[in-house]
Amino acid sequence: MDVRSGEFLAILGASGCGKSTLLRLISGLELVTEGTVTINDTDVTADPPAKRQLAMVFQNYALFPHLDVRGNILFGLRSRRVAKQTQRERLSETARLLGLGDLLGRKPSELSGGQRQRVALGRALVSGQQLVLMDEPLSNLDAKLRAEMRTEIKRIQRALDLTIIYVTHDQVEAMTMADRVLMMVDGRIEQLAAPDELYRAPATTVARFIGSPPMNIINFDSDSELSSLAPSPLRDHGGALGVRPERLRLLPIATASVAGHEIELGNATILVNELLGADRIIAAELSGSGKVTGQHVVARVAPEFALDMDDQVVVVTEREAIHWYAPDTGRRVEPTTDQHIEPGTRRPVAQQTTTVPQPSA
Ligand SMILES: Nc1ncnc2c1ncn2[C@@H]1O[C@H](COP(=O)(O)OP(=O)(O)OP(=O)(O)O)[C@@H](O)[C@H]1O
Ligand SMILES: [Mg+2]
Repeated sequence: MDVRSGEFLAILGASGCGKSTLLRLISGLELVTEGTVTINDTDVTADPPAKRQLAMVFQNYALFPHLDVRGNILFGLRSRRVAKQTQRERLSETARLLGLGDLLGRKPSELSGGQRQRVALGRALVSGQQLVLMDEPLSNLDAKLRAEMRTEIKRIQRALDLTIIYVTHDQVEAMTMADRVLMMVDGRIEQLAAPDELYRAPATTVARFIGSPPMNIINFDSDSELSSLAPSPLRDHGGALGVRPERLRLLPIATASVAGHEIELGNATILVNELLGADRIIAAELSGSGKVTGQHVVARVAPEFALDMDDQVVVVTEREAIHWYAPDTGRRVEPTTDQHIEPGTRRPVAQQTTTVPQPSA
């Protein structure tokens, strides 16, 4: 994996997948058993943390208990003997940004969890290092403060041209802050891509979890009607298709009028109908041929959607909303150009040839 200078890279993954471990390997707190760590073209694999010229915000703050907030924030600058005037300027700027002005004389034991987290963040931001590693730095803040700090960190990163590697399991943080997102599963790179690409073209059925609710996956076998729509590698063995909840349409079964460019995925029975305010989430169980029967889909529809539990619907979508995945690997399969050209369709040529690079795992 390469992180570009000035980049904001988010590492996203479930608890225990190895995010903190990866940061500790980069920082030198953990020894690598295989491979190398290179910073600014220098191999630092054997260097201790202090020689790697980076700052780190730990998941558990790691503040010095005997130092007050001022002492904790300035610790790095003092030990590197940065000029007093610079120290004062950076301290007051950081304290203002992080809302710590009234707390500078307090010890960590006299702070709330969120306040400690902000002190740890402040210490990294004043350090003057270009590379900053952050391990879930906002996890202990309330929703309002977290939203403010997201914007603030992003602003500081741009202003100081910092390279930030930022661990989170909050996909909103990853999507809103990052230039690229590394999606990690069981210690491996599942996908490394810009947020919009991760959303637009999940490389695997696991990467589909970006988005809320996540992308639907419908497994089908070769004798299902769905296989006739699939790219040729999936026609003989079946596979999986993915559709985002907002790209599904649910039509009342009696009056269903499927538009010419739409594709029927099957009939379904509504199981759950939840109004979230701006939209409605509908879960339904598919009936249809073979393997498809019994699988669930989730649709995001308008609040006015009139059908309710136990009602029968036809589930439709558009061809370009469908993502295809191989049955064994769960990897994305791009539709080939010829399969996009349907008799009677007039799709622009540029869209027909879109392919998405596969990440190297
Ligand atoms: N010192 C260690 N020795 C052995 N295994 C460890 C050690 N530290 C962590 N692990 C294991 O390595 C895996 C990855 O841990 P890590 O802390 O990197 O996860 P994480 O992605 O940061 O999770 P979280 O989101 O919960 O912080 C876990 O299964 C964990 O139990
Ligand atoms: Mg962790």
